[in-house]
Amino acid sequence: MDINVSEVSKSFKTRSGKVLEVLKGLNIEVPSGSILKLEGASGSGKTTLMNILSGLIMPDEGKIEIGDIDISTLSEVEKDRFRAENIGYIFQTFNLLSPFSVIENVYAPAAFSGKLKKDHKEKAMEILNQVGLKGFEKSMPYHLSVGQRQRVAVARVLFSENRIILADEPTASLDKISSKSVFDSLMKCREFGATIIFASHDEVFREISPDRTVSLDEGGAQ
Ligand SMILES: Nc1ncnc2c1ncn2[C@@H]1O[C@H](COP(=O)(O)OP(=O)(O)OP(=O)(O)O)[C@@H](O)[C@H]1O
Ligand SMILES: [Mg+2]
Repeated sequence: MDINVSEVSKSFKTRSGKVLEVLKGLNIEVPSGSILKLEGASGSGKTTLMNILSGLIMPDEGKIEIGDIDISTLSEVEKDRFRAENIGYIFQTFNLLSPFSVIENVYAPAAFSGKLKKDHKEKAMEILNQVGLKGFEKSMPYHLSVGQRQRVAVARVLFSENRIILADEPTASLDKISSKSVFDSLMKCREFGATIIFASHDEVFREISPDRTVSLDEGGAQ
């Protein structure tokens, strides 16, 4: 699915009452199956843009189209469903479901969106194996290392075969070896033609050449 960001602006009010303009009239086209790298200093709006793309927050102005859908026209329920079906996240701070085991975390989003098939456990096991988490399927997320948790988040995306992957500093706070294995797991998403949008300072990400790089410094103005 192509993603089209047009004239998107977003400001926040700070505690002191000042208005912080984060994104200003941002335009980006991300063709289906391509890789977009988001750059910019800390605070430039990379996470904000990813939250807007997933419909978690609304822009003040502008439009986000994913495929032929303008996400601002969806109701909250439709947005949740759209997200569950199409968007996979691997975030700076992990978003695993803590009351559920590793394997349940892998197939839970597919269960929510009603896409679960009969052999889902087998498939989830296979993917956990691919990302190097064999034997951890029954573990609880809080017993895992940070790198292992990030790989569960990647396994979940691989399981759901999400069309769009938002990866926001997915290897932050990991050592080199763990970063590499999270990165390699993430790159498996390319096998099913996912569109990948990522922000990362990690050198493992230099291995890929993004189709496009956008800097959000100065609000993303080009
Ligand atoms: N809900 C909010 N309320 C007020 N300010 C916010 C809110 N969310 C983000 N901001 C501010 O917007 C700016 C952009 O934040 P954002 O998290 O998008 O930056 P970032 O580019 O992802 O930075 P980093 O590289 O450190 O992750 C920051 O100055 C942040 O403090
Ligand atoms: Mg961020």
